[in-house]
Amino acid sequence: MARFPDGFVWGTATAAHQVEGGNWNNDWWAWEHTPGAPCTEPSGDACDHYHRYPDDIRLLAALGFNAYRFSLEWSRIEPEDGEFSSATLDHYRRMCATCREHGLEPIVTFHHFTTPRWVAARGGWTASETADLFVRYCERVTARLGDVIGRACTFNEPNVVATFGHLWGLFPPGKRDADLRRRANDVFIDAHKRSVQVVQGGPGTVPVGLTLAMQDMQAVAGGHAVRDAERALMEDVYLEAARGDDFIGVQTYTRFRYGPHGMLPPEPGARTTQMGYEFWPEALEATIRRAWEMTRQVPILVTENGIGTLVDAERVEYVERALRGVLACLRDEIDVRGYVYWSLLDNFEWTFGYGPKFGLVEVDRTTQVRQGKPSAAWLGRIARANALDDDRDA
Ligand code: BGC
Repeated sequence: MARFPDGFVWGTATAAHQVEGGNWNNDWWAWEHTPGAPCTEPSGDACDHYHRYPDDIRLLAALGFNAYRFSLEWSRIEPEDGEFSSATLDHYRRMCATCREHGLEPIVTFHHFTTPRWVAARGGWTASETADLFVRYCERVTARLGDVIGRACTFNEPNVVATFGHLWGLFPPGKRDADLRRRANDVFIDAHKRSVQVVQGGPGTVPVGLTLAMQDMQAVAGGHAVRDAERALMEDVYLEAARGDDFIGVQTYTRFRYGPHGMLPPEPGARTTQMGYEFWPEALEATIRRAWEMTRQVPILVTENGIGTLVDAERVEYVERALRGVLACLRDEIDVRGYVYWSLLDNFEWTFGYGPKFGLVEVDRTTQVRQGKPSAAWLGRIARANALDDDRDA
């Protein structure tokens, strides 16, 4: 038995837009309905988690986990400039309370990819004013929820929003402009630094950090300069900005390889996942080590790791190998505080729609009936034992 430290966080994650349903007031909903946008299908009712969260939280606790990471939908909390919805803040307060009633730490993300339509219309993440608006939103949220939140993430993967939305044209606002990507990085970092202070100001004593999309970015012969240049804007600016934070959320799915002319596809015959990523669970160990080094030893929380696959046994294999990497980091005295699997539920996978299945729990999208997969029971047992064994008979 390989044991994890006492108090290790075992959770699963979701994001508001991917599970709640009916989030029509944000830029993603608009994007899903924009002709020519690279979206497979609209999010629609998603998993109706906005109404079904009590059952979902109960299920997560019964499986053996001790934390639930979810996000707040800014466009519900502040549907128009300066108009805050008390009812929505109460909703998220009830979600935190329900987590606590079931022994789960609520890990709350303030922004997970989606931005209110009115903020997007005023320039979104390339307008410096958006940082002010975000800080004001964080003030209102913290005043109402600060005493019930367990841990707070300001942003989920701002590097993805900056790059996919402003350089690659895949996420809203669909731009392809290197300067806009740099500007978005700057606005996110400014907003992050200021909102950390707001959340830390209380009420409550909530550890705060940001989460970053980190892949194991490997250079093959002649690819070092290209890899380093890409990694500087994708990861390093954020890792440097996170120095001094309470934690850094590491989110890893695969490795990317770089040659002299850019990113390389997985080698012919390589095992891949539903996302087209190479099956490479060892990436997690590499990114934890890098985050630890680059932030100068900010405590690490794995806020997302997982696999999109139709074969549930592959999920078990993937997570087990990833967890062995976490244990190797712990043995080297890297301060890893927990592991949060993406995702609790099969859900809306952004441009890919509902195709990729990341969930520990299957969702029938017609009836909304939930059905735990064998991997859910398997990971729940590990969480309960706080140890990894070779019991694979789930
Ligand atoms: C995001 C999630 C997404 C997951 C799987 C992460 O980049 O935070 O929203 O569903 O990866 O692709």
